[in-house]
Formats: sequence, structure tokens, C-alpha cells
Amino acid sequence: MRGVNVLHPEGVKMRNFAIIAHIDHGKSTLADRMLEIGGLLERGRHEEQFLDRNPISRERGITIKLAPVRINYQDYIFNLIDTPGHVDFSYEVDRTLACIEGVILLVDATQGIQAQTVANALKSIEKNLIVIPVLNKIDLPSRMIEKTKKQLMNFLGVSESEILMISAKTGEGVENLMKEIIKRIPPPRLISNKEPKTIALIFDSYYDLHRGVIAFVRVFQGRLKKGEKVKLYHAQKDFIIDEVGYFLSDLAQSDFLEEGEIGYVITKLKDIHQVRVGDTIVNTQVNEVGLPGYKRVKPMVFASIFPVDGNDYLNLKNALARLSLNDSSLSYSPIYSQALGAGFRVGFLGLLHAEIIQERLEREFNLNLILTSPQVEFKVENNKVFEPIVKITIITPKEYLSEIMNLVLQYRSKFINMNNFSSSEELILVYEMPMSELFSDFFDNLKSVSSGYASLDWEFLRYQEVNAGKLEILINNEAIEEFSTIVVKEKAYFEAQKLLARLRTLIPRQQFEVRIQARFMGKIIASERIPPFRKNVLVKSGKVLGTGDIGRKRKLIDRQKEGKKKMKMVGRVEVPKEAFKEVFRRN
Ligand code: GTP
Repeated sequence: MRGVNVLHPEGVKMRNFAIIAHIDHGKSTLADRMLEIGGLLERGRHEEQFLDRNPISRERGITIKLAPVRINYQDYIFNLIDTPGHVDFSYEVDRTLACIEGVILLVDATQGIQAQTVANALKSIEKNLIVIPVLNKIDLPSRMIEKTKKQLMNFLGVSESEILMISAKTGEGVENLMKEIIKRIPPPRLISNKEPKTIALIFDSYYDLHRGVIAFVRVFQGRLKKGEKVKLYHAQKDFIIDEVGYFLSDLAQSDFLEEGEIGYVITKLKDIHQVRVGDTIVNTQVNEVGLPGYKRVKPMVFASIFPVDGNDYLNLKNALARLSLNDSSLSYSPIYSQALGAGFRVGFLGLLHAEIIQERLEREFNLNLILTSPQVEFKVENNKVFEPIVKITIITPKEYLSEIMNLVLQYRSKFINMNNFSSSEELILVYEMPMSELFSDFFDNLKSVSSGYASLDWEFLRYQEVNAGKLEILINNEAIEEFSTIVVKEKAYFEAQKLLARLRTLIPRQQFEVRIQARFMGKIIASERIPPFRKNVLVKSGKVLGTGDIGRKRKLIDRQKEGKKKMKMVGRVEVPKEAFKEVFRRN
């Protein structure tokens, strides 16, 4: 927070913090133990992982949406924000860090430091937050306490006595951790300004059918009160606060939200895209705020979605509108396809986000969909092509170094640097890599060459010009838009061969010869042919079914008709709907 005075008032009995960790290192389990100690959950009589309220999140055992909660401990108030572990949602970690003074860096003692441990810890240190290093899962026989402690000491420069040990599962060490939070993490920092004003940072929001958008805020100055007229600083939108309160096991109304506090504000606004995360709530007179906005979240991969039954188009449209009410990172626009009819092009944060949205559309809205495989978007400007580049961080035991370096080379990457935790046996490797390469099969291959030991984190860096062009697929001389992609020149031939080989198995024989060709930058570079095949279902093993077989004939013809419903006409060629889903599927 540049240019503002930051205070640490003594005696304020409040601590705002988050738990950060690599995926599956136990954040949600630890949060549950803290809630029990604070009396918000009864041990053994609750569903596991209270903060993971999203059903898909629970089913998959991963945190998707962060959920803040207020815990009373002794005479202190703890505001705990759980954060998602998957890298698709790492922007949520960034938002959280702007609202707190310290983090618990949780490391699974059976795994040691992993890529996201490093990435999240570095982000916290950059923001000058207090980091409390904690070893988790010390109840497990495969724990590596000495080794993990050494990693932490070398990586964070802490002494052994600063590292706490817990089992989030059994609860061992958790109370001690809460005492250490009080000791080590400072009370909320406030902004000091001469003129009194209200400044509250929005770090999340969701849409409630009855109450409109509910913003999650951290108050930095002044107080927020019901009935008060305020404005969204960046959106320049005024509204009257309908209600404020805290996060207990549910929303708990209060009279006001004070300086330093974390809570919610009911805005009654109808559009979540107006209440942008990173925006600030201020008094209507305020013309300048000292808080930095968050970066706007950009979709990174795109897929086209079509209803299998064209009559479902409006249902799909409504479903997307409903989901985007609560997911400001979801973007979509209508498209039309010759073969698949009216649909939407949808932008996602990453592959997991895409999978979750698809699952929700199908499950919650009962839609039968054709979704093309999500692909990284290349930008075309003035005939030049640009692609997103990411920074990847790999953590690996030393013995896999050469295999990993060889592997990374095959993905158009650039070496940035290599570090070790001093004496430890792990290495940190940093590369730049095109996002399309990262999202191909890199992760699977990294796991396989490192016997599962290497871990990976990435973050978007920039767009970069690349020698690439459109690879089109033609079926009997007709270009099929759904099958065309932008590919890098050096990989065009390889990609063309791969696509054609796949299409050859996906498109059934027809009554005439089908030619499939790949055209790159205007030139045919590969071609395949599917020979004709006349299929008469009434002929079986060379014998025509007799006149007595009417029932059986009807059944066979019906079955053939049923099969046709699963086809889409491309010119005269029947292409199964599956082909649209399968053609770009990752291996
Ligand atoms: P994400 O939200 O997906 O990032 O995961 P998380 O970090 O919240 O991990 P979670 O709390 O879901 O724990 C992952 C798994 O480890 C679960 O099966 C937990 O039951 C288990 N686990 C967590 N803490 C402990 C522990 O101290 N001991 C043992 N034995 N298991 C633990």
C-alpha cells in the first residue's frame, strides 16, 4: 500500500489471517479444527470441511471458492480466510492476501515443500505478511519431520523453534497454533488519514436471489453501517447499504463493521459484474482512495458449447446467465456453427474451471451439451499472432533433474533459473512456457518422468508474438470451422497428422468417399480418405432378412434412425457429434 500510513494499534484483539498451502496439504481440515475450538462446529457432528460449501468442491475434495469465517478464541476475534489450492483459482489467493496481516504456511510433512507452497509463500513475503510455518499430518507414519523442517529453514530463513507441528486431523497442536497466531500476527493495519472517510476493500462477492449482490469486505478505515449511502469507487455506482454483518456459521447481522474488520455488505445491486472484486466501498464524498485495485481476472482457455437439442438454446443461455451471476470470471458470447447450430463461446480461468462449469451446466440445469475441448486462445492483431506465456515453477528432487530438463525442452520453453533450498535435496526450476504447451500433456509427462515427485505451479506473464497460423480441416473440400485451430508453424505438420488420424477414426464410412484435408496458411499439408461403404442393415451375413421378419426389420431400421440423430450433416457428410468433442481432446 504505497503512499499511505500504516498503523498497528496495540491492544486490538483481532487477527486477520489465511491458511496457504499446496493442494491437499490440509487447509480445510485445519480450518474445521479451528472452528471447533471457536465453538462454531461440534466435533464429530458435522459434515467435514465446513468452508467448502460448494457441492462440487466437496465431491472433488478441493476448495474452489474461498470462504471467510469469524472465530472467537479466548477474548480475541480471528478472521480466517480459507483459500483454494488449485492453481486455476490462484487469483483468489491474491485477493485474500490484501485483506490480512499474516498467513499460516501449512506443509504436509509426508510431502515436504511443493510448488504451490513456494509460490504462495513468496506472494505473502512480497506483501510483507507474517508467515507462520506449520508442519501438518505429523500423525502419519510416513512423516518426514526433520527433512521438511530443514526445507522450511532453508527456504524461509526461519529457525527451527519457529516451526510449529500439528495434526489437523487429530487436532494435536492446533490450540498452540492459535496462541502463536495471537503472539506473532499483528492486529489489523489501518489507514491513517486526516479527513474521516470510509474505505473497505471488496475481496469476494456472490449473488443471492433475494438480497442481490453480497460483497465480502475488509474495512481499512471508518465504519460501514446499515442505511448508509456509499459508492463503489471504481464502478462509480452509488448504493444504500441494506445490511452488514460477520461470517459465523452463516451470515450474522451486526450494527456496523468497524475498522480492521472482515464482514459482508448486502448491496441489493442486481449485477455481480458491477461489484467487482478489488473495487473499494467509500463514502459518496470520497474522490481518492489509497488502496490498490486487484488485477482483473482474464479467461485463459475457451471452449464452444452447444445444446445437443437445438430447442435447449434458451435454456443454455439462461443457465450461463445464472452461473455468471455468481462467477464474475465466467465470460461467454453467442456463436453460430454450420454444423452445430446456435451456441456459446465460453472463457474459463483454466481447465479445472472449464470442467466444473460443464459439470454444473449438465447437472444443475439438466442440459445435454456438446462442449469442444477447451483451448488456449491466441490473439490475432494486424496479421500478427500472439500467444499467452506463463512462468512455471517446478519443484523436484535432484535425481530427476536431467529428465525434467529434457522434457521441458520439448515444450518450446525458456530456462529462467534454478535454485535449491541450500543443503536440501530439492531444486526449484523456473521456466517460461507458452500456455498452450503447458495445457497440452506437459503436466502428465512431468509427473511420469519424476515418478510423481515433481510439483508444478504457473502464473500468466504476458502475450508474445509467435509464428503461427490457422490450421483448417476440410471435409470434401468444405472447411469446418469447429475443427480449425491456430497452431505454431513448427508444429503444424505434426498437429495436422494428429487431427486427421483422429478424425479418420471418428467419422464413419459413408456411401461415397470422404476426403479429409488439413490446410495451413492456405496450403494443403496433409490428407486422408475414408473409403465408401454401403451399409444395408437388412443384409446380415450376406443374407437378406425374409419377409417374415417384419418386427426385426423395423427394429433395425429404428436403430439406424436413432444413430442418425447422433449425427450432424457437414455438407453431405454425416459427422457424429462425438467428433466435435473428441477431436481436440488431450491424451
Ligand atoms: P484443497 O482445498 O483442495 O487445497 O485441499 P486442502 O489443503 O484443504 O486439504 P484437505 O483439508 O482437503 O485435506 C486433504 C486430505 O488430507 C484429506 O483427506 C484430509 O482428511 C487429510 N488430512 C488433512 N490433515 C491431516 C492430518 O493432519 N493427518 C492426516 N492423517 N490426514 C490429514
